[in-house]
Amino acid sequence: MEKFYESNELVGVLAPRAYYIPFEKQNEVFLPRRKSSRYTDLNGEWGFTDYQTILDVADDFYLNEPKTTIPVPSCVQIHGYDQLAYVNTAFPFPYNPPFVPNLNPTYHYTRKFTVSETETKKYLCFEGVDSGFYVYINNKFVGYGQVSHKLNEFDITDFVTVGENKIDVLVLKWCAGSYLECQDKLRYTGIFRDVYILSRPKNHIVDYRIDTQMDGTVKFTLVDGISAMVEFNGETKTVNGGNSVTFKVENPQLWSAENPYLYDMYIYTDGEFIGEKVGIRSVEMKDGLFLVNGKPIKFMGVNRHDINYKTGATVTVEDIELDLTTMKNLNVNAIRTSHYPNMPEFYQLCDKYGFYVMSETDIEIHGVAIRNYRTNDYWRDFNGIAEMPLYHDAMVERQKYNVECQKNRASVVIWSLGNEAGAGVNFDDGANWIKANDYRPVHYEGYCRLDIIQEWDYYYGCPVDMVSRMYPQIEWIRDTFLTDPRQTRPLVLCEYCHSMGNGPGDFKAYWDLINAHDRLMGGFVWEWADHGLNLNGKGMTYGGDYGETLHDGNFCMDGIVTADRKITQKSQEMKKVYEPVFITYADHKVTLTSRKYFTNVEGKLTLIYHDNGIEVGRDAYSVNIAPGQSVSFDARDCHVTIASLTLTDDQGVLKAGYELARAGFTQERDLTETTGGVTPHFEQTNRFITVKAGKTYFTVDKANASIVSIKKGKKELLKTPLTLSIWRAPTDNDMNIRKEWEGLRLYETFGEVRQITTTKKGFVMSGHISTLQFVPPVEFSLKFEFRKNAVTVAIEYSANDKVPFLPRIGYECSLDKKFHAVRYYAYGPNESYIDRHISCIKDLYEDTVENMEVSYVKPQENGSHYDAQFVEVTNGKDTIRVQGESFSFSVLPHSTKTYTNTAHDWQLPKSTATHLCIDYFMSGIGSNSCGPELADEWKAPKQGKNSFTIIIK
Ligand code: GAL
Ligand code: MG
Repeated sequence: MEKFYESNELVGVLAPRAYYIPFEKQNEVFLPRRKSSRYTDLNGEWGFTDYQTILDVADDFYLNEPKTTIPVPSCVQIHGYDQLAYVNTAFPFPYNPPFVPNLNPTYHYTRKFTVSETETKKYLCFEGVDSGFYVYINNKFVGYGQVSHKLNEFDITDFVTVGENKIDVLVLKWCAGSYLECQDKLRYTGIFRDVYILSRPKNHIVDYRIDTQMDGTVKFTLVDGISAMVEFNGETKTVNGGNSVTFKVENPQLWSAENPYLYDMYIYTDGEFIGEKVGIRSVEMKDGLFLVNGKPIKFMGVNRHDINYKTGATVTVEDIELDLTTMKNLNVNAIRTSHYPNMPEFYQLCDKYGFYVMSETDIEIHGVAIRNYRTNDYWRDFNGIAEMPLYHDAMVERQKYNVECQKNRASVVIWSLGNEAGAGVNFDDGANWIKANDYRPVHYEGYCRLDIIQEWDYYYGCPVDMVSRMYPQIEWIRDTFLTDPRQTRPLVLCEYCHSMGNGPGDFKAYWDLINAHDRLMGGFVWEWADHGLNLNGKGMTYGGDYGETLHDGNFCMDGIVTADRKITQKSQEMKKVYEPVFITYADHKVTLTSRKYFTNVEGKLTLIYHDNGIEVGRDAYSVNIAPGQSVSFDARDCHVTIASLTLTDDQGVLKAGYELARAGFTQERDLTETTGGVTPHFEQTNRFITVKAGKTYFTVDKANASIVSIKKGKKELLKTPLTLSIWRAPTDNDMNIRKEWEGLRLYETFGEVRQITTTKKGFVMSGHISTLQFVPPVEFSLKFEFRKNAVTVAIEYSANDKVPFLPRIGYECSLDKKFHAVRYYAYGPNESYIDRHISCIKDLYEDTVENMEVSYVKPQENGSHYDAQFVEVTNGKDTIRVQGESFSFSVLPHSTKTYTNTAHDWQLPKSTATHLCIDYFMSGIGSNSCGPELADEWKAPKQGKNSFTIIIK
């Protein structure tokens, strides 16, 4: 066997072409492709033999009987072969291009198929094989394919005979192309997408392109093929190879993500029909703006991997439809196919449902940047392969595969050259090829790294049409990009709001800016869904759970929805910034302003009025707002006005009643309960002060300022003491700062009281929050003041210079599990943080402890509520109320310690207590797992002052 797998060659693979499926009859062309009599489905159970290495495979391996079977399409690792491994940036093999490991796991697939005639030509199509593969028909070598996410097509007409035929495919885990496919994902192997044979007349259409303009001009070009008939808009025209015909639709309905209108086109020759759904629209760059149909639309986008939590890289059309429907339900209008072309049907569905697509080429070479253990020249290292002659043609060809296959899709509005692969001539030439062959703007973030551009003609020369950044600081966009006169291109955020674990906290900050500038094209959230696998039904797993030695842990758990596509509270944060209207409130008027460009916002606006958490009335209005226009509605006087805009009729996949937008406006009320005055009785030992305040006894520990006991008469209400604490279970977005926090031992602190002075109503304790080994991180003064059945604990504190910022600062205790009902006045009902509460409304809520826990596969800080005025926890008989001007709290079934120390949600122990955190300050969440550092304004202040009152009822 020739070692094609260590070359960049494709052998016997036909030139790339537009994707289509031929049918026998005109009225069939829009049926699912499997219904075509010209389509022979080769999916199913194939014979299968695994080899440790290709070196174990004999040249006539195809004569061997298979050991077992495997379904096609699928990934071998899902079926127990090889090793599941999640790697983000690194090459999981030695760096030595184009060579791959000698122990290169290899899989022989075999099956039989029948051919009923050999009059027509036969094309064997593989839509996705990872990575290199040799194809044999009836024991004869047909060719060798690679490029995992590519339609690899072979002409097998001369290999097949009437009757039974045999196909053998030898798939290698690694090939030279693997260097170009270092994407952040579980690395899978196998025939993971559909395999089929197309039977076609001798003279068939090969390739064509359809170009449209806003004025209704539709141009059909027969790129390759002898001639074809094209039927469109009531006209039929003949076109010869290399020529074009033009149609004109009067007053066309333009295609957009808002109105994905498609026109039917029929293309045929003697013997076959092809159907095309044509979206008429324009895409252009003009005066530094990105325009669709002449409008500077915004990408309310997500990055999507073609993945499934049970089948890995093998997904079905139903999986895609579920994703697209769920996205529509979250107001998403754009998708980047990170980081490779998706299966062809995906793009057709995007045309149909209405999504702007940034179609990305199958190139990521992240590992090249970190091939040296230590480097001072990360960005130059990144260019290693992008500048390598050995990979030049392969990289340019990959651009063609993406463009040629997807070129007729209206949804595709941008070509992306790849992801994290450096910059160099291999990209320049690919980009220039695209520019010479297609009109769509070209994107590639790899050119746009300020660090490397010094010697690149970044502003005017590099062949991309937009500036792209991932996870930039807001300040960079505002103060650097927007103010630089040399920046003549618009900016897209190809990735932003890294949605790992609890987060992201910066949706609002990004969108406040994006909404204000036409040159900001919007962005794509990283990323759509977690990559977790649930293979044994126990729960989701991630990197390191499979026994792999090189892995990136739970970095693959960074979806805005879960791996099984459940909408989460963070999904709702995204939905909020992607709403089709802005809703504002002033002077008892609610104003809706449309953010659409092409269609009216139609629906029903319901204003729901709350007083103290209870609905006291509602008004309904029907709305119909033209693009960019505003309408206002009167609102009644009440505590909270909730504006909910819902659909009155079904709209595409969105059903009548679907909530397009929701906002709440709170007229702050003072719901503070007054407490009676009391003359407290103090009893002291050397260690404790017990204070009788009404019928309640509070005992405070003079050692550490903990409230060790709260007794209602004789009944103890605390399970464990209310203790000063500054730790939160690190979120994934704390992963960087966490190292410093842990270095300072902030996870194990204790109060050290140094001085106590008594006052008329209580006492003041001053001292430190301390850790072993170090200078105490925090100095405090705590003023305890007693009222009837109540104590106010006011803090003034200051953290020392060594502490970057505090995770939180407050008290934490546990209560009997019977304390399970919660009432509060704060941002809710979703968890809320200072920088993460746009999907929340400040109102009065009732909830239960179990329900207030927000599950993250890797447990972490969750369920906090920001800007609380009070929270009450009750067991039905006894109530602990905490009130203050503005604080954060959580009431959860597990402790901070348990969340800190558990690796998976399904490993959390059964709850044995209710855990209450009362926080003077809770730091924001941010998106620093990959995004910028948490902004200073969201950090718990280094010096602060706040107070809360505990009332026992
Ligand atoms: C980006 C990369 C993505 C993903 C993300 C981290 O830099 O482009 O593919 O790895 O980081 O989740
Ligand atoms: Mg990467």
